Amino acid sequence: MEQHNITSDFLHIGTQLLKWYDKNARDLPFRNTKDPYKIWICEIVFQQTRIAQGLNHYNNFIKRFPDVKTLANADEDEVLLYWKGLGYYSRAINIHKASKQIVDNYNGEFPSDYEEILKLKGVGKYTAAAVSSICFNGKMPAVDGNFYRVLSRVFADDFDISNSRAFNYFSELAHLIMPENVGDFNQAMMDLGSEICKPRNPICGECPLNKDCLAFSLHKVSEYPVKSKKVKATDLELKYYFVHRNGEFLIQQRKDDFIWKKLFEFPLEVSDQLIPFIKSVKNIQHKLTHKNLSIEIFNVEVDSEEVWKTFIDKNDYIITNVENSHDKSFPKPLENYIQNYQTAYRIL
Ligand code: ADE
Repeated sequence: MEQHNITSDFLHIGTQLLKWYDKNARDLPFRNTKDPYKIWICEIVFQQTRIAQGLNHYNNFIKRFPDVKTLANADEDEVLLYWKGLGYYSRAINIHKASKQIVDNYNGEFPSDYEEILKLKGVGKYTAAAVSSICFNGKMPAVDGNFYRVLSRVFADDFDISNSRAFNYFSELAHLIMPENVGDFNQAMMDLGSEICKPRNPICGECPLNKDCLAFSLHKVSEYPVKSKKVKATDLELKYYFVHRNGEFLIQQRKDDFIWKKLFEFPLEVSDQLIPFIKSVKNIQHKLTHKNLSIEIFNVEVDSEEVWKTFIDKNDYIITNVENSHDKSFPKPLENYIQNYQTAYRIL
């Protein structure tokens, strides 16, 4: 582990950063509120989604669910619908559960203490630190990939960010430069990390910390952060049957939480009677964070009313059509498939 001379004064680095933030903070819709509900939602939305990509989703979500109680009273399916397109659907399910927790355990009042916020479903140390610092003057650094990158470069520190102790290590480093106003400091680190100290092609010439940045002065910015391990994605094969007749098709809601929990999907198996109706098959490759999916979708166009009826009666599938399917959330590849079906059959 690198040794840092903690008697040195690194605080001016944080002060310098705040000065830059005062002039350069991005004008984001959640920047003019200290409502912990809104900050919490924005932290969850933008944790794995870039601001430009998620902003519409965030605005629509807040419009429909403006406070904890409205969210807690909503149906899970509707919450999922508003999450449609953002991916990582477990985040939406957790947000919904946490809103019920807040209503049940905190009388609908968002908890203000870091440790209490941490108890909410789906809330980790980063989110708890962000919400408590931005809304309640909490004093924890919101350590994420931006912190790893900025701090490893400023201190030319080769601590491996894939090490399980990286979070604690970089939290300690953050404390060395952290000024009094932790809420602004955390957001300044986020802005610096996404606008200036970017993973690739950082704009060091414009960085407010370039005079203090050891990696910059050593011309070694591109060597930080150090990351040894790559999490290897595993392969998974999925087979679906798109069973349809006269513009109607069959779906079910996923139960297991392996992937795509609670999203809707096509049948995973069909009876032998349906096999003769297979008209074509489509192969799709789809990447999730830890999975490489190979998906086969069989197009089962059931030309027989009798077989269609028998199959429906024997199974528990939901019968839908393109128009009605729009108020359900599907995994991206299945949604695309439905879209193509609509075009191919000129439905609607
Ligand atoms: N990304 C996630 N939360 C953010 C915030 N509060 N400010 C800027 N970028 C963010």
